[in-house]
Amino acid sequence: MRICILGGDGYLGWPTVMHFSARGHEVVAVDSMIKRHWEAVVDVAPLELTPPLQDRAAHWYKKTGKVVEVVVGDIATDPELLHHLFRDYQPEVIVHYAEQPSAPYSMMNQNAAIHTQQNNIIGNLNVMFAMHDFCPQAHLIKLGTMGEYGTPNIDIEEGWIEIEHKGRKDRMLYPKKAHSLYHLSKVADSNNLEFGCRIWNLSVTDLNQGVVYGIDTPEMDNDPELRTSFHYDDIFGTVLNRFVVQAAIGNPLTVYPKKSS
Ligand SMILES: NC(=O)c1ccc[n+]([C@@H]2O[C@H](COP(=O)([O-])OP(=O)(O)OC[C@H]3O[C@@H](n4cnc5c(N)ncnc54)[C@H](O)[C@@H]3O)[C@@H](O)[C@H]2O)c1
Repeated sequence: MRICILGGDGYLGWPTVMHFSARGHEVVAVDSMIKRHWEAVVDVAPLELTPPLQDRAAHWYKKTGKVVEVVVGDIATDPELLHHLFRDYQPEVIVHYAEQPSAPYSMMNQNAAIHTQQNNIIGNLNVMFAMHDFCPQAHLIKLGTMGEYGTPNIDIEEGWIEIEHKGRKDRMLYPKKAHSLYHLSKVADSNNLEFGCRIWNLSVTDLNQGVVYGIDTPEMDNDPELRTSFHYDDIFGTVLNRFVVQAAIGNPLTVYPKKSS
């Protein structure tokens, strides 16, 4: 299949690129490299140096003979990039990871919150419009997060909930109760995607993914030239990765307690 990975320079993006490429699919990796800029802004770095995406793609080619095309561009501020890519490449599958992924980052200050929502919500809308106009048969796999649901006092349903209200019934998106402005950007994405499926007949999997952890996949093969960006800091490090590092160096795990009232 022709697969387009948006956010291909990221923690999940690069292993996904290799996973599909190794299985013989044609893969294009798109990234603005903006995460590397955000890291510099908040003064954190991945555990180990992560080679540039172009270098990793070149090394992957040397090692496996498989070509990964790299496109550098911003899907939130440059909608034409997606127009050209989707029109010319005609992806059958689009995996969309290209968002600001951190709740703590989104809650640092007003600028970071607004930037997170602009980047994520507009980028996702640009993907939807480009699919609608140039590759309506493609299937989109969009990474949302488990945190969209929050911690409601009723059972969480898989995406949808049947509601009976004043004697009438309907099936609606499960109401979301996010805990950060990052998570709320994902809730907006989910609503926009549901609209795209319902009104435009887009085909979408909105994956409300839980925390991903670990540092390698079979394709990475312990090769430093193929490693992915691994964060363990308090801004971009997902909690399980922070625990893994703390356990490895024998530090107590920083479990966040509930405030007692
Ligand atoms: N890592 C997890 O545990 C986890 C869990 C649930 C959901 N997610 C979601 O999965 C996605 C990927 O997560 P990750 O951990 O790989 O994050 P990441 O920050 O490592 O990767 C995201 C990539 O997208 C790129 N990007 C961001 N905005 C862009 C834009 N406008 N145009 C082009 N490129 C852009 C960044 O430069 C970065 O390389 C995110 O949407 C995140 O919210 C991640």
